[in-house]
Amino acid sequence: MTPAASRTKTARLKVWRGSDRAAGRYQQYDVAFEDGDSVLDGLVRIRAHEDPSLAVRFSCFNANVCKECSMLIDGEVEYACIAKLTEGVTRVDPLPKVPLLRDLVTDTLAKKERL
Ligand code: FES
Repeated sequence: MTPAASRTKTARLKVWRGSDRAAGRYQQYDVAFEDGDSVLDGLVRIRAHEDPSLAVRFSCFNANVCKECSMLIDGEVEYACIAKLTEGVTRVDPLPKVPLLRDLVTDTLAKKERL
């Protein structure tokens, strides 16, 4: 085993999928990570290597500037680029109380800015 491999851990992300809150479902993904990796890192890895259909929005990627990665992580509103991956199961849901677009992407524009 290489030193890098010995530091790799596995997180299980239970991710809400769908475009209708009443008809969605959870899909589980196992993702390898190292200490310090964010939930957004895990979601991007899932998109790149396992399921490109997973919808997730981000822009600044781990700079905590754009706020576009807001979502519920284990029931708490957090920025996915700040929340850290941990071993075990982490539930990931779209933001509540705003229009759902698909999967983890919601319409976060102010009501007066929506078309
Ligand atoms: S990706 Fe910009 S704040 Fe998280």
